[in-house]
Amino acid sequence: MNRPNKLHLGQFPTPMHRLDNMSRVLGRNIYIKRDDMTGVSTGGNKVRKLEYLLYDAKEKGADYVLTTGGAQSNHAMLTAACCNKIGIKAILVLKQRGVQGRVGNLLINELLGADVRFVDTDSYDDVYKEMDRIADELRAAGHNPYLVPVGGSVPLGTVGYVDCAREIFAEALEQDIKINRIVSTAGSGGTLAGLVLGAMLYGDGCKVTGVAVCDDPFEEITAELVNGAAEILGADVHVEPKDIDILRYYGAGYAQPSKEGLEAITLMAQQEGLILDPVYTGKAFAGLMHLIRTGKIGENETVLFLHSGGTASLFAVDPKDVK
Ligand SMILES: Cc1ncc(COP(=O)(O)O)c(C=O)c1O
Repeated sequence: MNRPNKLHLGQFPTPMHRLDNMSRVLGRNIYIKRDDMTGVSTGGNKVRKLEYLLYDAKEKGADYVLTTGGAQSNHAMLTAACCNKIGIKAILVLKQRGVQGRVGNLLINELLGADVRFVDTDSYDDVYKEMDRIADELRAAGHNPYLVPVGGSVPLGTVGYVDCAREIFAEALEQDIKINRIVSTAGSGGTLAGLVLGAMLYGDGCKVTGVAVCDDPFEEITAELVNGAAEILGADVHVEPKDIDILRYYGAGYAQPSKEGLEAITLMAQQEGLILDPVYTGKAFAGLMHLIRTGKIGENETVLFLHSGGTASLFAVDPKDVK
């Protein structure tokens, strides 16, 4: 397989362990992969994608990286943090909607010294227009900007989660366990796509379920990213949207705390002393609980939950502010 080069920005492998109390309470064998501990800033899934994307940026001689997300974007914050490690300036072009002020990821962005610009829109088309405008301005001034789309969810970034899947199955072998299903959040699709491809390559029949945090067409987005990443790796894999398993379990909408998410966050904190967030991982674990309650995760299945980070948004979005 062709493995593209990457930078070493995070701390890998991340821990993977059984959740003993949660397994007892929910009546299934539940493991967790701690990608909330990827070792840059407050941790999270984007570090794996950025190792590939920022290698590419450096290779192309970039001196600025532009990316985008919501006002409290974990991805944008981690892009700024990773850029600091390699001496490239980050410009974060964020949607104005969402929680503003010196809280959560916006406070961290300030500490990181990131150049944050807001666009007053609900549409990523408008945001990308503004990113292109800023990039043109930088080029005219003799700079070399590199653009990372929302969530770093392009085929090259997706390869980071193929690596994560490889890590998971290697660790499972070492711990002598068989993982039947992985459950992960789907926000822009790259994490899920990498896990799907990785499970096909290394997972010996392991299923992957994505819990969507908004109403985007994740079956299509994810299938496209799986196929794109497979092409980069030279893997003989092709999937269709119908092959992608998505659970829509996000309540009132993106970044709107849900009753089920709050229940999951509280249970995880009180049983395991681990912290989930109201935008991504709380809803994803609520989805996992739903799959157990409805029997889709069977009694003899071993399920692995990917903790993809997001802790900082807990200090901006109150999980009890249920919509
Ligand atoms: C904490 C957290 N978990 C999960 C996701 C979803 O990952 P992806 O965008 O690759 O679908 C994101 C970003 O969107 C995130 O910030």
